[in-house]
Amino acid sequence: MPSEVDVSIVIPTYNERENVTRLIRILHKVMTERGIPYEVVVVDDSSPDGTADAVRALSQTYNVRLVVRPGKLGLASAVLDGMRVARGSILAVMDADLQHPPEALPEMLKRIEEGCDVVVGSRYVEGGSSRGWSPTRRIVSRAADLVAKILLPRTRRVKDTMSGYFVLRRSVAEGVPLSPRGFKVLLEILVRGRYSRVCEYPIEFRARTWGESKLGAGEVFSYVLHVLDLAHTAVRFAVVGSLGTLVNLATVYALGYLLGLEHWITVPIAFETSTLFNFFLHELWTFKSALRGGVLGRLAGFHGTVVAHFVSQLTVSNLLYYGYGVGRVLSQLTGIAVGFILNYALSRWLVWRGWVENRSFGGPSS
Ligand code: GDD
Ligand code: MN
Repeated sequence: MPSEVDVSIVIPTYNERENVTRLIRILHKVMTERGIPYEVVVVDDSSPDGTADAVRALSQTYNVRLVVRPGKLGLASAVLDGMRVARGSILAVMDADLQHPPEALPEMLKRIEEGCDVVVGSRYVEGGSSRGWSPTRRIVSRAADLVAKILLPRTRRVKDTMSGYFVLRRSVAEGVPLSPRGFKVLLEILVRGRYSRVCEYPIEFRARTWGESKLGAGEVFSYVLHVLDLAHTAVRFAVVGSLGTLVNLATVYALGYLLGLEHWITVPIAFETSTLFNFFLHELWTFKSALRGGVLGRLAGFHGTVVAHFVSQLTVSNLLYYGYGVGRVLSQLTGIAVGFILNYALSRWLVWRGWVENRSFGGPSS
């Protein structure tokens, strides 16, 4: 068993007075039985139910430290703030509400001892389950997991990417810039962390006995944005391009049907409108950290990439259709793909050339 390990258990709380009190007692029992030195770090967002006072009282008896933040600043940032003040060489993160079984923690720590860098408490490996969940919640969670796996290759080796119960070596996250947005700190860690071995340990995700879940429908949207932020720039570039196409269509529709302009007049206006729309989204989002030099230069440059897209699409599509007898739709589709790639490459390497892709740390997967 870990001897010098000192484990820090980070617990975010918002209105969890009853739960966190019980949890701290159980953790104490579980950890001292196994002789594992540990501390608990509770990060409370000034819960109106007096969670912080309850934790403060417990800190007389148990090795508990409390971080109180001025208001509800979000789950992910609470976890990161807790990790920041944690002293242990191994960090554990779990919910306060007893949905994450504390009895599993020593086993998860043992996995770290055995060489895992990250251990995920998982509902989806043999022996894991999620009983306390409504069918809707299950579907949303599965969909979110699927989106992550499609867009974030590094998460694919983990079955339960949405888990909020995990243990990691401090070195996995130390010095790694982790964004406090979203709910899913584990995703940030899996995408950006320095690790080579991720393991999963089966947990039974239990039903809540007290209080209520803080995750609602509004989080779905911010989750998608979060995943896109972690994804490769090409993904964001394509998302913006698709939205730009919608803007283009809406402009043609509005100018044509609502204002009654000639179609040939609306086409170039729609083209320019969507080009500007794309440009500003690329500035504000796709390439947000690469804004060096004057905006006008990039604006002109981006128009150049759009022209390159257009010319290459025209050339490839016609060449395939007339030169090689490829079908119309396939010719056009290929033209679009080539145009997109060219547009993306020129944008990334010439227009927003300061852009640096998120680097993955760590070695091969296991
Ligand atoms: N400090 C702080 N600030 N804590 C928060 C906040 C916040 O804004 N929002 C939620 N928490 C705390 C809760 O008090 C609880 O201890 C924990 O974070 C998880 O919140 P719940 O509201 O219980 O989440 P859930 O049960 O719906 O979702 C859980 O399951 C997911 C599995 O897919 C969480 O564990 C997620 O992290 C997990 O991904
Ligand atoms: Mn919960």
